[in-house]
Amino acid sequence: SEPLRVGIAGLGTVGAAVARILTNKSNSLLHRCGRPIAITGVSARDRDRDRGVDLSGAEWFDSPVALAKSDKIDVFVELIGGENGAALDGIRAALESGRHVVTANKALLARHGVEMALAAEERGLILNYEAAVAGGVPVIKTMRESLAANDVGRVYGILNGTANYILTRMEQDEISFEECLADAQRLGYAEADPTFDIEGFDTAHKLSILTSLAFGTQVAIDEIYVEGISNISLSDIHAARELGYRIKLLGVAQRTATGIEQRVHPTMVPLGSVIAQVDSVTNAVAIEADTVGSLLLSGPGAGGDATASAVIGDIADIAKSRPGHQEAPVFGRPAEELEPYQRAE
Ligand code: NAP
Ligand code: HSE
Repeated sequence: SEPLRVGIAGLGTVGAAVARILTNKSNSLLHRCGRPIAITGVSARDRDRDRGVDLSGAEWFDSPVALAKSDKIDVFVELIGGENGAALDGIRAALESGRHVVTANKALLARHGVEMALAAEERGLILNYEAAVAGGVPVIKTMRESLAANDVGRVYGILNGTANYILTRMEQDEISFEECLADAQRLGYAEADPTFDIEGFDTAHKLSILTSLAFGTQVAIDEIYVEGISNISLSDIHAARELGYRIKLLGVAQRTATGIEQRVHPTMVPLGSVIAQVDSVTNAVAIEADTVGSLLLSGPGAGGDATASAVIGDIADIAKSRPGHQEAPVFGRPAEELEPYQRAE
Protein backbone atom coordinates (compact mmCIF):
# COMPACT_ATOMS: atom_id res chain seq x y z
CA SER A 1 0.00 0.00 0.00
CA GLU A 2 0.94 3.66 -0.43
CA PRO A 3 3.45 4.99 2.12
CA LEU A 4 2.51 7.83 4.44
CA ARG A 5 4.95 10.58 3.38
CA VAL A 6 6.32 12.54 6.30
CA GLY A 7 8.13 15.90 6.31
CA ILE A 8 10.08 16.68 9.47
CA ALA A 9 10.84 20.34 10.26
CA GLY A 10 13.44 20.55 13.04
CA LEU A 11 16.15 17.94 13.48
CA GLY A 12 17.31 18.75 17.01
CA THR A 13 16.87 16.62 20.16
CA VAL A 14 13.36 15.48 19.24
CA GLY A 15 13.42 15.68 15.43
CA ALA A 16 16.62 13.66 15.07
CA ALA A 17 15.26 11.02 17.48
CA VAL A 18 12.02 10.82 15.48
CA ALA A 19 13.95 10.38 12.21
CA ARG A 20 16.23 7.74 13.71
CA ILE A 21 13.45 5.69 15.31
CA LEU A 22 11.18 5.91 12.22
CA THR A 23 14.13 4.58 10.21
CA ASN A 24 15.19 1.85 12.65
CA LYS A 25 11.66 0.62 13.35
CA SER A 26 10.29 0.88 9.81
CA ASN A 27 9.38 -2.82 9.70
CA SER A 28 7.48 -2.96 12.98
CA LEU A 29 5.70 0.31 12.10
CA LEU A 30 4.70 -1.18 8.75
CA HIS A 31 3.10 -4.13 10.57
CA ARG A 32 1.34 -1.92 13.10
CA CYS A 33 0.07 0.66 10.59
CA GLY A 34 -0.55 -1.54 7.56
CA ARG A 35 1.47 0.80 5.34
CA PRO A 36 5.04 2.13 5.27
CA ILE A 37 5.97 5.48 6.81
CA ALA A 38 8.56 7.26 4.67
CA ILE A 39 10.50 10.43 5.51
CA THR A 40 10.33 12.30 2.21
CA GLY A 41 11.36 15.79 3.31
CA VAL A 42 13.34 17.46 6.10
CA SER A 43 14.21 21.00 7.16
CA ALA A 44 16.52 22.54 9.76
CA ARG A 45 18.89 25.50 9.87
CA ASP A 46 22.21 23.72 9.32
CA ARG A 47 22.15 21.44 6.31
CA ASP A 48 25.63 20.03 6.99
CA ARG A 49 25.19 18.92 10.60
CA ASP A 50 25.31 15.16 11.19
CA ARG A 51 21.93 14.12 12.66
CA GLY A 52 23.02 10.55 13.47
CA VAL A 53 20.67 9.07 10.85
CA ASP A 54 20.84 8.64 7.08
CA LEU A 55 18.48 11.22 5.59
CA SER A 56 19.84 11.03 2.03
CA GLY A 57 16.51 9.65 0.77
CA ALA A 58 14.64 12.75 1.95
CA GLU A 59 14.57 16.06 0.10
CA TRP A 60 16.19 18.94 2.00
CA PHE A 61 14.23 22.20 2.39
CA ASP A 62 15.92 25.36 3.66
CA SER A 63 12.47 26.72 4.50
CA PRO A 64 9.96 24.86 6.75
CA VAL A 65 7.16 26.67 4.87
CA ALA A 66 8.36 25.26 1.56
CA LEU A 67 8.45 21.80 3.15
CA ALA A 68 4.94 22.30 4.56
CA LYS A 69 3.59 23.19 1.10
CA SER A 70 5.50 20.50 -0.76
CA ASP A 71 3.42 17.93 -2.64
CA LYS A 72 6.01 15.36 -1.53
CA ILE A 73 4.49 15.11 1.97
CA ASP A 74 1.18 14.06 3.55
CA VAL A 75 2.10 15.03 7.13
CA PHE A 76 4.07 18.04 8.39
CA VAL A 77 5.88 17.23 11.65
CA GLU A 78 6.80 20.48 13.39
CA LEU A 79 9.71 20.04 15.83
CA ILE A 80 11.26 23.51 15.64
CA GLY A 81 9.74 25.12 18.73
CA GLY A 82 8.74 28.68 19.55
CA GLU A 83 5.23 30.11 19.66
CA ASN A 84 5.64 32.16 16.45
CA GLY A 85 8.16 32.34 13.62
CA ALA A 86 9.07 29.35 11.51
CA ALA A 87 6.98 26.88 13.56
CA LEU A 88 3.75 28.88 13.24
CA ASP A 89 4.34 29.78 9.59
CA GLY A 90 5.04 26.11 8.82
CA ILE A 91 1.93 24.76 10.56
CA ARG A 92 -0.31 27.42 8.97
CA ALA A 93 1.11 26.65 5.53
CA ALA A 94 0.71 22.90 6.05
CA LEU A 95 -2.96 23.18 7.03
CA GLU A 96 -3.70 25.62 4.21
CA SER A 97 -2.07 23.15 1.81
CA GLY A 98 -4.12 20.19 3.05
CA ARG A 99 -1.38 18.43 5.05
CA HIS A 100 -1.98 16.77 8.41
CA VAL A 101 0.15 18.16 11.25
CA VAL A 102 1.97 16.61 14.20
CA THR A 103 3.66 18.93 16.69
CA ALA A 104 5.32 18.80 20.12
CA ASN A 105 5.05 22.57 20.48
CA LYS A 106 3.08 23.45 23.62
CA ALA A 107 4.10 27.14 23.51
CA LEU A 108 2.53 27.48 20.07
CA LEU A 109 -0.62 25.54 21.00
CA ALA A 110 -1.07 27.58 24.18
CA ARG A 111 -1.12 30.75 22.07
CA HIS A 112 -2.59 29.65 18.73
CA GLY A 113 -4.12 26.23 19.46
CA VAL A 114 -7.74 27.18 18.83
CA GLU A 115 -6.91 28.92 15.54
CA MET A 116 -4.93 25.85 14.44
CA ALA A 117 -7.74 23.52 15.54
CA LEU A 118 -10.32 25.50 13.55
CA ALA A 119 -8.07 25.45 10.49
CA ALA A 120 -7.55 21.68 10.75
CA GLU A 121 -11.16 20.79 11.52
CA GLU A 122 -12.71 22.87 8.74
CA ARG A 123 -10.51 21.03 6.24
CA GLY A 124 -10.96 17.54 7.76
CA LEU A 125 -7.26 17.39 8.65
CA ILE A 126 -5.65 15.80 11.70
CA LEU A 127 -3.69 17.93 14.18
CA ASN A 128 -1.99 15.67 16.74
CA TYR A 129 0.15 16.91 19.65
CA GLU A 130 0.65 14.08 22.14
CA ALA A 131 4.28 15.08 22.81
CA ALA A 132 3.33 18.64 23.74
CA VAL A 133 2.28 17.65 27.27
CA ALA A 134 4.28 15.34 29.56
CA GLY A 135 6.64 14.04 26.84
CA GLY A 136 6.20 10.30 26.44
CA VAL A 137 3.12 10.02 28.68
CA PRO A 138 -0.06 9.47 26.59
CA VAL A 139 -2.17 12.05 28.39
CA ILE A 140 -3.64 13.87 25.37
CA LYS A 141 -5.15 10.75 23.86
CA THR A 142 -6.45 9.73 27.28
CA MET A 143 -8.16 13.06 27.83
CA ARG A 144 -9.26 13.63 24.24
CA GLU A 145 -10.60 10.17 23.52
CA SER A 146 -10.63 7.70 26.41
CA LEU A 147 -12.44 9.89 28.96
CA ALA A 148 -15.47 10.68 26.78
CA ALA A 149 -17.81 9.42 29.52
CA ASN A 150 -16.40 11.81 32.11
CA ASP A 151 -16.78 15.31 33.44
CA VAL A 152 -13.42 16.31 34.84
CA GLY A 153 -13.30 18.22 38.13
CA ARG A 154 -9.56 18.66 38.50
CA VAL A 155 -6.35 17.99 36.60
CA TYR A 156 -2.95 18.61 38.13
CA GLY A 157 0.57 17.35 38.19
CA ILE A 158 4.26 17.63 37.52
CA LEU A 159 4.44 18.79 33.92
CA ASN A 160 8.03 19.94 33.48
CA GLY A 161 10.85 17.40 33.40
CA THR A 162 13.65 19.95 33.71
CA ALA A 163 12.26 21.55 36.87
CA ASN A 164 11.55 18.18 38.47
CA TYR A 165 15.04 16.96 37.51
CA ILE A 166 16.59 20.06 39.13
CA LEU A 167 14.57 19.76 42.35
CA THR A 168 15.32 16.03 42.60
CA ARG A 169 19.06 16.35 42.03
CA MET A 170 19.40 19.32 44.36
CA GLU A 171 17.87 17.20 47.11
CA GLN A 172 19.58 13.88 46.34
CA ASP A 173 23.04 15.06 45.32
CA GLU A 174 23.20 18.36 47.21
CA ILE A 175 24.40 20.23 44.12
CA SER A 176 23.58 23.74 43.03
CA PHE A 177 20.61 24.84 40.98
CA GLU A 178 22.94 26.02 38.18
CA GLU A 179 24.78 22.69 37.97
CA CYS A 180 21.50 20.74 37.82
CA LEU A 181 20.16 23.02 35.08
CA ALA A 182 23.34 22.58 33.02
CA ASP A 183 22.92 18.79 33.26
CA ALA A 184 19.26 19.02 32.21
CA GLN A 185 20.32 21.05 29.18
CA ARG A 186 23.06 18.56 28.30
CA LEU A 187 20.53 15.71 28.50
CA GLY A 188 18.19 17.47 26.05
CA TYR A 189 15.39 18.08 28.58
CA ALA A 190 15.38 21.88 28.67
CA GLU A 191 13.73 24.32 26.27
CA ALA A 192 15.94 26.36 23.93
CA ASP A 193 15.33 29.16 26.46
CA PRO A 194 15.39 27.37 29.86
CA THR A 195 13.67 30.33 31.50
CA PHE A 196 10.46 28.68 30.29
CA ASP A 197 11.27 25.58 32.36
CA ILE A 198 12.47 27.16 35.57
CA GLU A 199 10.07 30.10 35.71
CA GLY A 200 7.01 27.88 35.24
CA PHE A 201 5.94 29.08 31.79
CA ASP A 202 6.40 25.68 30.13
CA THR A 203 4.23 24.12 32.84
CA ALA A 204 1.66 26.86 32.20
CA HIS A 205 1.67 26.18 28.45
CA LYS A 206 0.95 22.50 29.11
CA LEU A 207 -1.62 23.24 31.79
CA SER A 208 -3.55 25.54 29.46
CA ILE A 209 -3.88 22.67 26.97
CA LEU A 210 -5.00 20.21 29.66
CA THR A 211 -7.52 22.76 30.94
CA SER A 212 -9.09 23.10 27.53
CA LEU A 213 -9.31 19.32 27.12
CA ALA A 214 -10.66 18.85 30.66
CA PHE A 215 -13.32 21.55 30.68
CA GLY A 216 -14.11 22.16 27.00
CA THR A 217 -13.05 25.79 27.18
CA GLN A 218 -10.93 28.08 25.01
CA VAL A 219 -7.20 27.86 25.73
CA ALA A 220 -6.48 30.64 28.23
CA ILE A 221 -2.74 30.87 28.85
CA ASP A 222 -2.85 34.45 30.16
CA GLU A 223 -5.29 33.48 32.92
CA ILE A 224 -2.74 31.30 34.73
CA TYR A 225 -0.99 32.41 37.92
CA VAL A 226 2.66 31.43 37.33
CA GLU A 227 5.54 31.13 39.78
CA GLY A 228 8.68 29.08 39.04
CA ILE A 229 11.48 27.45 41.00
CA SER A 230 14.36 29.86 40.45
CA ASN A 231 14.10 31.13 44.04
CA ILE A 232 14.15 27.65 45.61
CA SER A 233 17.40 27.09 47.52
CA LEU A 234 18.94 23.97 49.03
CA SER A 235 17.97 25.28 52.46
CA ASP A 236 14.29 25.52 51.36
CA ILE A 237 14.48 21.89 50.25
CA HIS A 238 16.06 20.84 53.58
CA ALA A 239 13.51 22.80 55.60
CA ALA A 240 10.61 21.21 53.70
CA ARG A 241 12.07 17.76 54.29
CA GLU A 242 12.42 18.34 58.02
CA LEU A 243 8.71 19.19 58.12
CA GLY A 244 7.87 15.99 56.19
CA TYR A 245 7.42 17.53 52.75
CA ARG A 246 9.10 17.66 49.35
CA ILE A 247 8.92 20.68 47.03
CA LYS A 248 7.43 20.04 43.57
CA LEU A 249 6.52 22.44 40.77
CA LEU A 250 2.83 21.72 40.18
CA GLY A 251 0.32 22.88 37.60
CA VAL A 252 -3.26 22.73 38.87
CA ALA A 253 -6.56 23.37 37.06
CA GLN A 254 -9.95 22.89 38.66
CA ARG A 255 -13.56 23.77 38.15
CA THR A 256 -15.12 25.77 40.99
CA ALA A 257 -18.63 27.13 41.52
CA THR A 258 -17.62 30.42 39.85
CA GLY A 259 -15.40 29.26 37.00
CA ILE A 260 -12.00 27.71 36.38
CA GLU A 261 -8.88 28.15 38.46
CA GLN A 262 -5.45 27.57 36.91
CA ARG A 263 -2.14 27.98 38.74
CA VAL A 264 1.50 26.97 38.57
CA HIS A 265 3.78 27.23 41.61
CA PRO A 266 6.20 25.31 43.83
CA THR A 267 4.17 23.26 46.29
CA MET A 268 5.02 21.39 49.52
CA VAL A 269 3.70 17.84 49.05
CA PRO A 270 3.72 15.28 51.90
CA LEU A 271 6.67 12.88 51.67
CA GLY A 272 4.32 9.87 51.76
CA SER A 273 2.20 11.04 48.81
CA VAL A 274 2.51 9.46 45.36
CA ILE A 275 3.33 12.81 43.75
CA ALA A 276 6.30 13.26 46.14
CA GLN A 277 7.83 10.04 44.78
CA VAL A 278 7.81 11.31 41.17
CA ASP A 279 11.52 11.85 40.63
CA SER A 280 13.93 13.28 38.11
CA VAL A 281 12.63 13.82 34.56
CA THR A 282 9.44 11.86 35.30
CA ASN A 283 6.15 13.72 34.89
CA ALA A 284 2.83 12.77 36.49
CA VAL A 285 -0.68 13.92 35.58
CA ALA A 286 -3.55 13.30 38.00
CA ILE A 287 -7.10 13.50 36.63
CA GLU A 288 -10.17 13.50 38.88
CA ALA A 289 -13.35 12.72 36.96
CA ASP A 290 -16.91 11.70 37.83
CA THR A 291 -17.26 8.38 36.02
CA VAL A 292 -13.82 6.80 36.26
CA GLY A 293 -12.71 8.36 39.56
CA SER A 294 -9.02 9.25 39.94
CA LEU A 295 -6.30 8.46 37.43
CA LEU A 296 -2.55 9.02 37.63
CA LEU A 297 -0.48 8.81 34.47
CA SER A 298 3.27 9.03 34.85
CA GLY A 299 6.44 8.48 32.85
CA PRO A 300 9.33 10.27 31.16
CA GLY A 301 8.37 13.90 30.57
CA ALA A 302 11.27 15.02 28.36
CA GLY A 303 14.22 13.77 26.33
CA GLY A 304 14.65 12.81 22.69
CA ASP A 305 13.53 9.19 22.66
CA ALA A 306 10.62 9.51 25.10
CA THR A 307 9.26 12.51 23.20
CA ALA A 308 9.83 10.80 19.85
CA SER A 309 7.73 7.89 21.14
CA ALA A 310 4.72 10.23 21.44
CA VAL A 311 5.41 11.97 18.11
CA ILE A 312 5.64 8.65 16.27
CA GLY A 313 2.45 7.41 17.94
CA ASP A 314 0.75 10.50 16.46
CA ILE A 315 2.22 9.82 13.01
CA ALA A 316 1.16 6.17 13.24
CA ASP A 317 -2.41 7.23 14.07
CA ILE A 318 -2.47 9.29 10.87
CA ALA A 319 -1.06 6.36 8.89
CA LYS A 320 -3.92 4.20 10.22
CA SER A 321 -6.66 6.81 9.69
CA ARG A 322 -9.22 6.30 6.93
CA PRO A 323 -9.94 9.11 4.44
CA GLY A 324 -13.31 10.71 5.14
CA HIS A 325 -13.54 9.20 8.62
CA GLN A 326 -14.44 11.73 11.34
CA GLU A 327 -11.43 12.09 13.67
CA ALA A 328 -11.58 13.17 17.32
CA PRO A 329 -11.70 16.99 17.49
CA VAL A 330 -8.37 18.60 18.33
CA PHE A 331 -9.42 19.73 21.83
CA GLY A 332 -11.91 16.94 22.47
CA ARG A 333 -14.90 18.89 21.15
CA PRO A 334 -15.15 20.87 17.90
CA ALA A 335 -13.04 24.03 18.20
CA GLU A 336 -15.98 26.28 17.28
CA GLU A 337 -17.94 24.81 20.23
CA LEU A 338 -15.27 25.44 22.89
CA GLU A 339 -16.84 27.54 25.67
CA PRO A 340 -15.48 30.96 26.58
CA TYR A 341 -13.06 30.69 29.48
CA GLN A 342 -14.42 31.92 32.78
CA ARG A 343 -11.91 32.61 35.53
CA ALA A 344 -12.92 31.58 39.06
CA GLU A 345 -13.47 34.53 41.42
P1 NAP B 1 16.10 21.73 19.52
O1 NAP B 1 17.00 20.63 19.92
O2 NAP B 1 16.50 23.13 19.82
O3 NAP B 1 15.84 21.57 17.93
C1 NAP B 1 15.21 22.57 17.18
C2 NAP B 1 15.41 22.26 15.70
O4 NAP B 1 14.72 23.23 14.94
C3 NAP B 1 16.87 22.28 15.25
O5 NAP B 1 17.12 21.17 14.41
C4 NAP B 1 17.00 23.57 14.46
O6 NAP B 1 17.91 23.48 13.36
C5 NAP B 1 15.59 23.69 13.90
N1 NAP B 1 15.24 25.08 13.58
C6 NAP B 1 15.26 26.15 14.39
N2 NAP B 1 14.84 27.25 13.72
C7 NAP B 1 14.58 26.84 12.46
C8 NAP B 1 14.14 27.50 11.28
N3 NAP B 1 13.89 28.82 11.27
N4 NAP B 1 13.99 26.77 10.17
C9 NAP B 1 14.22 25.44 10.15
N5 NAP B 1 14.65 24.77 11.24
C10 NAP B 1 14.81 25.46 12.37
O7 NAP B 1 14.65 21.55 20.16
P2 NAP B 1 13.96 20.22 20.70
O8 NAP B 1 14.36 20.00 22.12
O9 NAP B 1 14.13 19.12 19.71
O10 NAP B 1 12.42 20.69 20.76
C11 NAP B 1 11.63 20.77 19.59
C12 NAP B 1 10.18 20.98 19.99
O11 NAP B 1 9.75 19.89 20.80
C13 NAP B 1 9.91 22.24 20.85
O12 NAP B 1 8.63 22.74 20.55
C14 NAP B 1 9.93 21.71 22.28
O13 NAP B 1 9.21 22.50 23.17
C15 NAP B 1 9.25 20.36 22.06
N6 NAP B 1 9.53 19.33 23.06
C16 NAP B 1 10.80 19.05 23.43
C17 NAP B 1 11.03 18.05 24.34
C18 NAP B 1 12.41 17.69 24.79
O14 NAP B 1 12.55 16.87 25.71
N7 NAP B 1 13.47 18.24 24.19
C19 NAP B 1 9.95 17.33 24.88
C20 NAP B 1 8.64 17.64 24.48
C21 NAP B 1 8.43 18.66 23.57
P3 NAP B 1 19.51 23.23 13.57
O15 NAP B 1 19.63 21.89 14.25
O16 NAP B 1 20.06 23.22 12.20
O17 NAP B 1 19.98 24.35 14.44
N1 HSE C 1 11.51 21.37 28.52
C1 HSE C 1 10.42 20.47 28.69
C2 HSE C 1 10.52 19.80 30.04
C3 HSE C 1 10.43 19.45 27.59
O1 HSE C 1 11.59 19.87 30.65
O2 HSE C 1 9.53 19.22 30.49
C4 HSE C 1 9.21 18.57 27.59
O3 HSE C 1 8.06 19.28 27.27
